[in-house]
This record gives sequence, C-alpha cells and structure tokens, in this order.
Amino acid sequence: MMMKEKKGYSLLRNPHSNKDTAFTLEERKLFHLEGLLPDKIETLETQILRIKGQLNQIELPIHKYSYLSNLLETNQTLLFKIISSEPAKFLPLVYTPTVGEACQKFGHILRRPRGLFISINQKGRIKEILKNWPVKDIRFTVVTDGGRILGLGDLGINGMGIPIGKLALYTACAGVPPECSLPIVLDVGTNNDDFLKDPLYPGLKQKRVTGEAYDEFIEEFVVAINEVYPKICIQWEDFKGVDAIRILNKFQDKVCTYNDDIQGTAAIATAGIISISRLMGKPFIEQRILFFGAGAAAFGIADLLVQKFQRDGLSKEEALDHVWMFDINGLLVKSRTDLADYQQPFVHESEPSNDFAKAILQIKPTAIIGVSTVGGAFNQQVIENMSLVNDRPVIFPYSNPTSHSECTAEQAYTWSKGKAIFASGSPFAPVMYEGKTFTPGQGNNVFIFPAMGLAIFATKAKRVTDEMFIAAAEAVAEQVTQSDYENGLIYPSVNDILKVSLNVAIKIAEQVFTARLAGIRRPKDIRLFIQNKIYDPHYV
Ligand code: NAI
Repeated sequence: MMMKEKKGYSLLRNPHSNKDTAFTLEERKLFHLEGLLPDKIETLETQILRIKGQLNQIELPIHKYSYLSNLLETNQTLLFKIISSEPAKFLPLVYTPTVGEACQKFGHILRRPRGLFISINQKGRIKEILKNWPVKDIRFTVVTDGGRILGLGDLGINGMGIPIGKLALYTACAGVPPECSLPIVLDVGTNNDDFLKDPLYPGLKQKRVTGEAYDEFIEEFVVAINEVYPKICIQWEDFKGVDAIRILNKFQDKVCTYNDDIQGTAAIATAGIISISRLMGKPFIEQRILFFGAGAAAFGIADLLVQKFQRDGLSKEEALDHVWMFDINGLLVKSRTDLADYQQPFVHESEPSNDFAKAILQIKPTAIIGVSTVGGAFNQQVIENMSLVNDRPVIFPYSNPTSHSECTAEQAYTWSKGKAIFASGSPFAPVMYEGKTFTPGQGNNVFIFPAMGLAIFATKAKRVTDEMFIAAAEAVAEQVTQSDYENGLIYPSVNDILKVSLNVAIKIAEQVFTARLAGIRRPKDIRLFIQNKIYDPHYV
C-alpha cells in the first residue's frame, strides 16, 4: 500500500492514503504522524458529519464545488464516501450543472492543477510528458480539448473541470478505482475571445489549431498513451461535434476508446425510449423520433436507436424511417445541400421546413429530443402540437446546462396539460400541476458511463462497441420498477446509482465476453468477479 512508501507530513498530503484525524494510534506512531494531528481519533462517520456541516454553511453551489474539489486533493476516501452517501444531492455539485460554471471560472478558481495538460507546442514529445504522471498503471482517461464544453461552447483548457469531475463520477457511481484514472486536457488554443483577453486564463493564448496539424496532434496522443499505458481506455469528452465524430470514427476500431457525448448520451436516450415503450405497453419499433439539433449528440443517439430498431426486427431502411432530424437550417431533407456526410443517412424525401412546430404535425413523432443547445426552443406551440399527435407526448430536452434546456419541466407538463413524459439533460425539481406532483426524469449519462468504465476496467476490454452500449441501455431500462413507472419515472433513481451501475456493468461485461473482446478469461460468476473489482471508499 502507498502508506508504506509515505510517512509523516507527505502521508497527510497524499489524497489516496490520507485519513486525516482517522489515523489510529498505531499508525500515528508507525508513520511519524504524532503531533501532526489533534489527539482525538475520529471515525470516517464523524469526519463526514463535519464536512456536511461545513457544506451546509456554504450558500453557492460553485463554492461547494470548490470545497469538494479541495477534498478530492486531500482525502479521496472521505470525498467518495460523502458522494456515495447521497448521490442525488452531491452529483449536481461535483458535476452538471455546477461544473459548467466551474469551467467558465476555472482560471479564476484554480488552486492546484490536477491531471495532465498537454499543449500542441509539445507535439513530438507527448510520450515523454505522459511519463511525468507518477502512477504507472493508468487504465482510464477522460480527455477533452475544451472545444464544446457542455452547451457552453469553446472553453479552451478551462474545460479541464469536465475530465476531473467525470472521473470522480466513475469512482463515486460505479467504484472505478480513482488511482488508475487520469484527467487530461489537450491544449490547442481557444477561440473564446474573453479568455484570450483574460490575464488569468491558464492555457495557450492563441486561436485554435485546426486541420492536419490538429489531427496529427490527436494521433500522436492516441499512439503515445497506448504505448505508455497499454491497458488504457480513452474516453473523449466535449470535443466540437465534427471533431468528436471524426476522432471516434478514426480510432474506435483500432484502440479501446469511446465518446460519452455521442455513445453515452445515445445509450441513455435509448434506455429512455425502451423504458417508455414498456410504460406505454407499446413495442419499441412503434416509436418515431424527431431530433431538434443534428450534431454529435443527435447523430450518436440516432445511430444507436437505428441499431436497436434493427435488433427488434426492423430492416435498416425501415429503422431509418423512424428517425428524423431538424437543425439550424430546418428539416434534414433530400433537397438540402449544406449537410455533412454523417447526416446523410437521416435525410428524408420530404418537403423542406423551417418551422419545428409544423414539422411535428407533418412527421407525427412519438418523441422529440432536443440536442441543439438552444434554451426555450420547445415553446408552447411545439408542446401543444406534440400533445395533438400523441396521447402521451415524449419530451426530452437534453441540452445542458439548465439554461440551454429546450424547455423546462414545468412548461412541458403545463403546456401538455399534464400528459407529457419528460426527461431532460439537466435536473429539474418536481412540478405541481393541477394538484398532482410530477417528478421529471433526468436522461443522465451517469447511468451509463461509470458502469461502462467499470466493465472495461474489470474485463480489460480491448474495444468498446455499440453492442456494449445497447446492452447498457437495456440494462438501465430493466431496472425501472413498476412503482417508478407509476410515479412517471422512466429512469432509475440516482440515489440507487451504485446498485444500478453494478447491474449495468454486469450486462456490458457479458457482452464483452460474448464478443471475445475481453483481455481476461470469462470468470464463472461475473457478478462476483465485478463486485470484487469495485473500489469501496473506506479506511484500510
Ligand atoms: P453540436 O454543436 O454538435 O450540435 C448542435 C446542433 O444543434 C447542430 O446540428 C445545430 O445545427 C443545431 N442547432 C443549433 N441552433 C439551432 C437552432 N436554432 N435550431 C435548430 N437547430 C439548431 O452539439 P452536440 O455535441 O450535439 O451537443 C448538443 C447539446 O446536447 C449540448 O447542449 C450538450 O450539452 C447536450 N448533450 C447532452 C447530453 C446529455 O446527457 N443530456 C450529452 C451530450 C450532449
């Protein structure tokens, strides 16, 4: 254990092995800690009481975020124990929505850099830089270039808050061991003029490098990290749509990698539609989806939905007929000449339309999914038209953060006269409508990516496939109980996240073994095997 290597002051400053006031009398003697701590020996529970008491005194979520970030730097066991004690309360503080504001202010609230910052000026030396990280068996990395952080646009290296927060969730929500993960930001400059003028912006003060030089930089990174950490899984996060898709397409069949914005979102949205189909007693293949926004997230969801439609019996052509898209220039129809290659499969022979509400009357979707970053785009007319063509209109405003959500939960319930089935990207509080309480669902990738990380970590998976994401989506939907349904919920409760993640990880692992993609032999009891791999925050 690390404790043997460290003692005294440096042991207290090591977040992996620090126990603060919980070091026992024997440990205090053995590791030269006497005098460095107050006399009373406390339990983890007492420490949690103190931290929660202090958090209650702090008013603003961003300040709570800073406080918890500090704890991540000093005592990881304590931090992860606190988050897993009440996930629904703490996840919004360590990740969305608070992390959005934290990234915008990253340069101003930065205390102690965490993870690796690799700049394009270091091209040619990435391997050398990766070796500066002190841990030798890194298995998981979340990487961003800050190109499109949440729905907030280009935040340059201030986007580092995302890999840090996301990796904390891998641990808090599924038990991926924190010491084998590494947050990384790739600095290729920023086109954010405010940051370029800000003396506290900590990244390269230049416009983004694009084109060939950018692609070479990414390629060198992928090769280098696989050489330095041969069992690594790279999770790409918050790249600009076109870059995200290009990078994923280039590397997904070559190394162990995935993009959570594309594939994780796809899986959670698909889980929602599977779950709703069960709720309605309607076969999945009878769903028809219209996207508002046709970028990276829409593409990923649509692609996985098409695969699920096929798995449930439709031909590819029939499946594509169930998926429509609408972007900044209107409905994706054959006559348009401004569409990217990846959008082509979702183009239909139809009249062009620039009016989303009217397009609903024309296409009659059972569900609309907002992935446009345009707050308020699902206006009253949109929701009313969805209610005209459906008994139970499915409304998924998925854009983050909350201010970019295409509508609020209250709007969806009010304008649909309480008929909407609602799930959003960012959390909304329960809504009272005509004496009834509606609990909005949150299409939160957190039900997918930590479990994916755990399954990949445990099985030493060599690749990450779409079948693994479909297995994850089905496993999430399966865990929605009858009483959840009765309360209008289409996803499990976030407070059950650890249990849900374990079950999802088991289903993913089964798929990894079936597809012969595991780096280990199939264990007899997959549940037990995965359970034994889970990091459990307690003092040893
Ligand atoms: P993107 O930039 O690749 O795509 C945005 C799309 O919206 C483009 O097709 C664009 O044409 C369209 N759009 C923009 N303005 C529009 C308008 N006025 N009318 C119609 N369409 C418009 O972005 P990406 O990566 O697809 O992300 C979109 C949103 O999805 C973000 O807010 C992000 O936070 C959210 N997202 C949510 C996730 C979740 O779990 N809920 C996960 C991943 C992304």
